Amino acid sequence: MSRTGALHLASGLGGLIGKEQVKSSVEQYEKYHDLHGGEAKSRASNYADVANKYYDLVTSFYEYGWGESFHFANRWEGETLRESIKRYEHFIALQLGLTDGMKVLDVGCGIGGPLREIARFSSASVTGLNNNEYQITRGQELIDLAGLSKRCNFVKGDFMHMPFPDDTFDAAYAIEATCHAPDAVGCYMEIHRVLRPGQPMAFYEWCMTERFDPGNPRHVAAKAEIELGNGLVDIRTTAQCLQAVKDAGFEVISAKDVAEDSAVPWYQPLDPDAGASWTSANGFRLSRVGRLVTHAMVKAMERLGVAPEGSVRVSGLMETAGEGLVKGGREGIFTPMFFVLARKKPNLLTGTENV
Ligand SMILES: C[S@@+](CC[C@H](N)C(=O)[O-])C[C@H]1O[C@@H](n2cnc3c(N)ncnc32)[C@H](O)[C@@H]1O
Repeated sequence: MSRTGALHLASGLGGLIGKEQVKSSVEQYEKYHDLHGGEAKSRASNYADVANKYYDLVTSFYEYGWGESFHFANRWEGETLRESIKRYEHFIALQLGLTDGMKVLDVGCGIGGPLREIARFSSASVTGLNNNEYQITRGQELIDLAGLSKRCNFVKGDFMHMPFPDDTFDAAYAIEATCHAPDAVGCYMEIHRVLRPGQPMAFYEWCMTERFDPGNPRHVAAKAEIELGNGLVDIRTTAQCLQAVKDAGFEVISAKDVAEDSAVPWYQPLDPDAGASWTSANGFRLSRVGRLVTHAMVKAMERLGVAPEGSVRVSGLMETAGEGLVKGGREGIFTPMFFVLARKKPNLLTGTENV
């Protein structure tokens, strides 16, 4: 059973950062960002530290509020958040044609919520690549609890320099993870390198849409909040993202902003003006009231010494994340679900096509 209560939130807060260093780590993390005087160039040269500090600090908040899968989903009326998240994971497995015996790579796998669900759904074997040690430790506990250790595993590594030989995997996917890459082409080229010729990859990418106007201060402020609240170097546009896939050598099969198909807005769980869902712990915890309760609880735990000093500031980061995402979603200037399905071209000399 996963540990998702307040004590897990407090004990996991800071990840592998020493408890006495949580406060200084949040401060260092914040200084990378435009809203605290930082700039994208410095975030790009320190991308691994930006992402690792961020995920050490926030992973237990994510698990507490969102569950084991750290991503959004397009939503249909009558569907719970949990159901939509699973369906969204099944969609990527179906698009990739995953079946028993295939060797699949999950790029930037979090604590492995999608990886476990996709392995169960498709019977494929899934390797999760992640640069964050704390998430891997937590994810491994959950793999063992789910009885999936024969089908799923984690590898610690940077998706800009993957620790795999060329032509290793039958398919690859990334869910809201490669947005942390300082250079999209470099990251996609690594995915391309480790895929076998002729094989598919798919991802959901965080992007600014064509409605984003870099000359509009409101748009720029929302983008900066999203970057600060979510550990990002910079956010590419959908056009830049698609071009990067092509520049990395892939053949694009389809590309679409899935947010356009969302009957219920993807950002609804974070929207303070949306009615709270009281039918699940996560629905309540993400609502305006639930977030106020969590913030007050973290404040009390920090005062009592149950949560490390700096915890309230981390909780504030989560608030900034929510506010920026809702603004970006409402204005239609941002999407967390630009979906691309592509494939590595077959090797015509050897005739290597597929499994
Ligand atoms: C928003 S989370 C998404 C996790 C997972 N895909 C899911 O949906 O649950 C982004 C993930 O990307 C990972 N990540 C960020 N930078 C990375 C890097 N350079 N190499 C590998 N993983 C990275 C983070 O550690 C985190 O697990």
